Amino acid sequence: MVDVILGLQWGDEGKGKIVDYFAKNYDVIARFQGGPNAGHTLYVGDKKIVLHQIPSGIFHADKINLIGNGVVLDVVTLRKECNAVAEFGVDVTKNLFISERTHLILPTHRALDKASELSKGQDKIGSTLKGIGPAYMDKTGRNGLRVGDLLQPDFLQQYESLKNKHLQLLNNFNFEEDITQWEQEFFESIQFVKGLNIINGEYFINKLLNNGKKVLAEGAQGSMLDVDFGTFPFVTSSNTTSAGVCSGLGIAPQKIKDIIGITKAYCTRVGSGPFPTELLDETGDFLRKAGNEFGSTTGRPRRCGWIDLVALHFACMINGVTKIVMTKADILDSMTELKVCDSYLLNGEKITEVPYQMNRLSIEPAYTSFKGWNTDVSKVSAYADMPQEMKTYINHINQFLGVPVSYISNGPGREQLVSIN
Ligand code: GDP
Ligand code: IMO
Ligand code: MG
Repeated sequence: MVDVILGLQWGDEGKGKIVDYFAKNYDVIARFQGGPNAGHTLYVGDKKIVLHQIPSGIFHADKINLIGNGVVLDVVTLRKECNAVAEFGVDVTKNLFISERTHLILPTHRALDKASELSKGQDKIGSTLKGIGPAYMDKTGRNGLRVGDLLQPDFLQQYESLKNKHLQLLNNFNFEEDITQWEQEFFESIQFVKGLNIINGEYFINKLLNNGKKVLAEGAQGSMLDVDFGTFPFVTSSNTTSAGVCSGLGIAPQKIKDIIGITKAYCTRVGSGPFPTELLDETGDFLRKAGNEFGSTTGRPRRCGWIDLVALHFACMINGVTKIVMTKADILDSMTELKVCDSYLLNGEKITEVPYQMNRLSIEPAYTSFKGWNTDVSKVSAYADMPQEMKTYINHINQFLGVPVSYISNGPGREQLVSIN
């Protein structure tokens, strides 16, 4: 049986914390897409750690953590992260496994990411510049190198051949970058990664499933950044939605049970692209400050706004969400009024579906207002003790989405999660 936890907005919904919390109920925690563009924050005791490549179940010594074939892997980031978790006593040689089909991010992929962004001028995506797009392009273009290739005697030749293709492309972009340092780190890290558990991910996970083990698939980014269904072209380069679980791990769709979607109680986006409910005023500034909304990967300030139920409804539909976890409810504690977007106005006409090419349309959000709870909820541990104003807000969301909010996260701490029965 496989359950999935994934983001319903534009990323940074708090997936890391929620995966870490639920990991205790599973045997395997598996990343199925994305790469080091992800930044998943969790707290071990009072110590904060941000994971980019390693699944968020790594702090549970008895759990298997799998980097699936759908991920793109930066070996340099992985090595650094392995060293960071080792300081918490984690032995990655015991509980971290990597599919041999996982594609590698090369130093020249990072350079190509930069060159591509520069070439876009005003229309840049706001990529994290981790080489994600170029690495996935080499996968679908059938050029890429995979983790399994590291073990082949001709890896160096394969590497040089692909690197030369990249250098030509960089030349076409008229872009130069000294990658000597990156390459040195890349080859040092390869030696390290070769010492980890490199396995056939699809047989590995299916044998575990056949033996009755429970898998939790951990999404990266968010549904509105999905390469097919997000706000294209302002998206990432993978399927962040539940469909990506099957192709990113090698499991059959009927093995999937619960799809747990994470949303903030408001909304954020980092990078460019449409964001109908964005607040470019003091309320937006307040959310950014109170929510500490600065990117976990790049440190960039996140754009902030009200919760967008039109986009959330779309994300629930595409993913088949069965339960919702609403995070950062505590950030709204001191607000006297809350707004919820439940339709868009397009040329004065009300629409409730996410339109094609939102970036080319002039969309106005239409809001329903709610009274804020104006109470500190961060120490409340039972839903019955939550303020009535919060319950009214949640009920509206439940009704609109037709999927229940089953948990409220009311602080960054591991145990700050309130179940709604
Ligand atoms: P992810 O990429 O989805 O894992 O999310 P990030 O780690 O990038 O960003 C979420 C941020 O919110 C992190 O700093 C978390 O520690 C923090 N966080 C998660 N849940 C809560 C919550 O309920 N309340 C507060 N105040 N912070 C939270
Ligand atoms: P987690 O897993 C938020 C955004 C970037 C950019 C776009 C494309 O922490 O939620 P890319 O580097 O993939 O080429 O960037 O996607 N982006 C994220 N935004 N959280 C993330 O991951 C993101 N990963 C990529 O800001 O707009
Ligand atoms: Mg993040």
